[in-house]
Order: sequence, then structure tokens, then C-alpha cells
Amino acid sequence: MAKAQLLFPPDFLWGTATAAYQVEGNNKNSDWWAWEQGDGRILQNHKSGLASNWWANAEADLDIAAEMGTNAHRLSLEWSRIEPEPSVFNNAALGRYREILQAMHNRGIEPMVTLHHFSNPLWLVEKGDFNSKIVVDYFQRYTAKVVDVLGDLIPKWITINEPMVYVFMRYLAGAFPVGKHSGWQGALGAIPNLLRCHAAAYHAIKEKLPQAQVGIAKNMAVLQARPGSSALSRWWAGRVSWLFNNMWLDSMANGRLYFPIGRRTIPNLAGSYDFIGLNYYTRFYVNFPPFGGLLSDEWEPGAVVSDGNYGEIYPAGLFQMIEALLPYKKPIYITENGVPDSADQLRPSFLMTHLREIWRAISFCYPVMGYYHWSLVDNFEWDRGWTQRFGLIELNPETQERTWRESGRLYADICHSRSLTHRQAEKYAPELLQTIFRGETPD
Ligand code: FCB
Repeated sequence: MAKAQLLFPPDFLWGTATAAYQVEGNNKNSDWWAWEQGDGRILQNHKSGLASNWWANAEADLDIAAEMGTNAHRLSLEWSRIEPEPSVFNNAALGRYREILQAMHNRGIEPMVTLHHFSNPLWLVEKGDFNSKIVVDYFQRYTAKVVDVLGDLIPKWITINEPMVYVFMRYLAGAFPVGKHSGWQGALGAIPNLLRCHAAAYHAIKEKLPQAQVGIAKNMAVLQARPGSSALSRWWAGRVSWLFNNMWLDSMANGRLYFPIGRRTIPNLAGSYDFIGLNYYTRFYVNFPPFGGLLSDEWEPGAVVSDGNYGEIYPAGLFQMIEALLPYKKPIYITENGVPDSADQLRPSFLMTHLREIWRAISFCYPVMGYYHWSLVDNFEWDRGWTQRFGLIELNPETQERTWRESGRLYADICHSRSLTHRQAEKYAPELLQTIFRGETPD
């Protein structure tokens, strides 16, 4: 049998992704640090501590990323380090970020920088965080400072990571700080301010750096009714999916707020993005009626579910979500995709099947420009602490020792060859030989 090789375009970006709070360690001015100290908030009461020690030595993992053959990395800045008190900017922290960004350039790794990735300065929380309209001026000022000091090193920007996940986890689930269940009122109040912050940051960046590419990282999940459900269940699942997956993007495209948030227009919002970052992980079934939870944690027979019931592994959903982004008519980057799998049993096949969906999308001329795997190295997984391991590289947080996972070696082969090959499947995921190289889409 011929040995297939699924080639990617020469300018495709091969990357990995991390977030500041999850890897830097000792982020003591952040609301997450204060939150972690309370009992029962993080699974098994884990602490972030040194995290993956990036504040002291990001360079060690950047060496690994370079050895892996990646040419891009998505990281975030910790606002609470840069502005530990209102209007007080910390030059040493900005200097350290310059070093890290420069270290990436020196290794041929292009930075994509996220300004807000779930964590806030404590002082902002005291002022009401995203429920208070004043956040927009603060966010704009913080962005302008970053543009002035670091902008020359940052070609690609993400303003806000997963705004709808942030709103859901913070205001509705109460699993993120400050844990106030302010419910729908808090959630619906925060969304317009997050959109305003996005627009303000977009224009603050473009004004000084017109060549910069600025976008958003949008988590999208396949949210559907269970097979065989009633028409009403399917209608309901469609509404939930629109609310989570599309509402934010529609507002960003049109500049308008939609019901149930209101019907106002937000100045300077329409069209304020140069690309869309897609964070894709899982498929969920939506419960109807939603009593006992919006999403079902029961799976159909044969479903593959990762550590900690994180959701169903569903590679075809990545293609579906890429297609769902086509109407926005912008370049697409896969800014996160990965699986919690400490034993590394699922990840090799996860990598190949998801990348094959991207290859398929590119073969339809869909504008997918790059892939940032979550994550380069194990890191502190928010409310799930160290229980969920997403790294291509395994980390022992006690000793800070790193070990390459097999999936890390596989990703290195993919990045170096810029392709998916039959040989990789033979070596790392033989179960795929009968599927992904035979023209069928594995489900
Ligand atoms: C995403 C977050 C990222 C990480 C992954 C597993 O929702 O953006 O920080 O937690 O999930």
C-alpha cells in the first residue's frame, strides 16, 4: 500500500500555547492567587506555587519548543504583574516580558500574545472588575502601556481569551474567583463590558501598530441534542449553541448587542478583528429540560472521554467549527486544542485526528493559518489544579523535572516534516492506519 503523507502549506504556523498564570508561578497580585488560598476551591486543594517556573526560566521550555520544531507560541501577559496597583506600572516585570519575547524571536518562534487570560489584578476586582464600566478605561490604559513597551516584539495579539467561558465560570458556575454567584445579572452585565474592552484594546493596538494582527480567542464546542431527541430539544440545543458559540462573534462582527443582553450598538466594535482564534476541545450534549445542569455528563456508547470527564473527544467537530467561522470571512488560527491525558494514551491519536481535520479544511481552501497545541508543558489547570495534564512535556511540579511524552515526540515529527505521515501513525497511533489515511473521517 502506498504510504500517504498529508502535507501542510509551507507558511502554516506550528505552535504551542500557554497562559501566564498557569505557567509563571508566584503571581501573588492576581485574584487567582488569593482565590487559591481558600479551602475547597481547587481540586484536592492544589496550589499553583511555582507553576511551570516560567517567570524564572521560560527559556528552558522555549528551548524545548525550538527542539520540537515549532515556529510559533501563544503566551499571555499577567496584568497584575505589569500594573500591580492602579496606574503603577512595574518596569522590571515589563523588562522580564521583553526578555521572554526576545528569547522566542531568537529561537525562531513567533509570539502571539494574549492580554487577558482569565486572571485579574486584585485591585481591579475591588473596583468591580468586568461588571463595572470603568474596566474599559483601565484595560485600554494597560493595553497602551504594553503596546509602547513591548509592541515591537509582538506581531499577533489576542485581546481576551474565551470571554464566554470566563463569564460562565466566574458568574454562573462560581468556579473562578471571586466565586460570587451573581448569576445571570452578573453574566449579562459583564459581556457588554468585555466587548467594549476588546474594541478599546483593538484600536489602541492598531493606532500605534497598524501592521499588527489582532483577534480574539473564542472557545467553541459542539453543543447538540442527543441523537434521537425531540424537535424541542434540538431547538433548545441550537439556542444554547448560538449563545455560547456565536453571540460574541456576531456582536464583534456587527457592533451590536443581541437579546438577552440588549439591543444597543457598541461604538467602534463592528469589524474590530483581523483574525479569529478558535479554541476547540470537545463535544457535549445539551440537556432539555436543563434541570440538573445545562450539559449532560452522560455519553453515547463508544464515546471517548478524557481525564476528569472533560468532554467527548470529537475530531470532526473541529472541522464543523471551522466551517461555522467561514461567514466571518477572516483568517482562522487554532489558538488552543488539546486533551487532559496524564498517561498520554489518547494524545497521539488526538493530535493526528485533529490535525487531519485541519488539513481537510485547508484542502477546501478554508483559511486556517496555524495551530497552537494546548499545551507545551503541564501547567496549573485553574480550578482543576494539577489533576489535569495537557502537556506535550510532562512536568513534576515538585522537582520541576521535565520528561518528553511520546506525543511530544510525535508533534516534533509533525512540525519538522510539516505533515502527517503513515510512518508517524505506525509508530505512535497504529489504530489510525485503517482510518485517517484511507479517506474516512474518524468519528
Ligand atoms: C481553555 C483555557 C486554557 C486551559 C485549557 C485547557 O479553556 O483557555 O487556559 O485551561 O482550556
